[in-house]
Amino acid sequence: MSVPPAAVTVRAPAKINLQLGVGPARSDGFHALATVYQAIGVYDDVTVARALEGEATTLTVVGEGVDVSDVPTDSGNLALRAAVLLAEHAGLGDPPVAMRIHKRIPVAGGMAGGSTDAAAALLACDTLWGLGTPSDVLAGLAARLGSDVPFCLVGGTALGTGRGEVVTPVEDAGSYWWVVALPGGGLSTPAVYGAFDRLHAGSPAPAPEVSEALLAALARGTAEGLAPLLANDLQPAALALRPELGDLIAIGRAAGALGSMVSGSGPTCLFLASDEEHASRLSGVLAAEGIASLVAPGPVPGARVVPAL
Ligand code: C5P
Repeated sequence: MSVPPAAVTVRAPAKINLQLGVGPARSDGFHALATVYQAIGVYDDVTVARALEGEATTLTVVGEGVDVSDVPTDSGNLALRAAVLLAEHAGLGDPPVAMRIHKRIPVAGGMAGGSTDAAAALLACDTLWGLGTPSDVLAGLAARLGSDVPFCLVGGTALGTGRGEVVTPVEDAGSYWWVVALPGGGLSTPAVYGAFDRLHAGSPAPAPEVSEALLAALARGTAEGLAPLLANDLQPAALALRPELGDLIAIGRAAGALGSMVSGSGPTCLFLASDEEHASRLSGVLAAEGIASLVAPGPVPGARVVPAL
């Protein structure tokens, strides 16, 4: 029998939505989605270890270039809830853990930072406790934690349907370079969906559909082919709450980005570059305007255990 590890670290990526098609609110309050997710190379690391004898569960959150003051460190944290959910599912009771989250993904930025931490915590605890839970069962637990947690386990480029939790990988021949602009502050996802509902009060949103043209562009895999097909139905709602994001998008477009849009529910904004060097230049233009940004490739794999040294 193999010796269980003393601590496990899982690295989990941020997500972006190349297309975010949003339909009307369902009877459960969630909105029907037809989305194309992509995992990009901005990562949080989640480390779990068994708590010391007699100690309760602890969570430490450390930020690298991001403000983590609004991240809960109690049972309101989705990563801790992931640990509890997996333990319950496995019949382990409530084993205390020492969890540490190293955050590089902007908080409340529309990039699934909290969701990816939950996906990482599921995988880390599964490994720490030696459970070997099948991936479809982990995906089911992930869906109970949040709509985009299942995608964070899978990564790459994938279709999301239902409320976003039904994930199907799609063919993507490309490797792209993204600039993620961080305008500061956060946006609450429910607030953005609320603004979406108000904008559609007079004319309900149609059932969302994934663009066939977008899927064909991904199969061809060029940034130039992908750029004009980027689409986000939540963008008008995010702009209604944070009108200045319109200026940020315009700055990126004027600086030569191939494609520019709000990321998910915002407020981070995304710019598609033609290559790494172009992405660095775009990031430099944003910096000259006083706007912080990250440069990241995509697609990248989903949550993965970091091999022990
Ligand atoms: O699923 P998750 O917990 O990430 O969703 C956060 C919030 O975003 C939900 O409470 C809901 O207000 C909104 N949401 C939605 N429709 C979706 C996904 C999220 O209305 N498909």
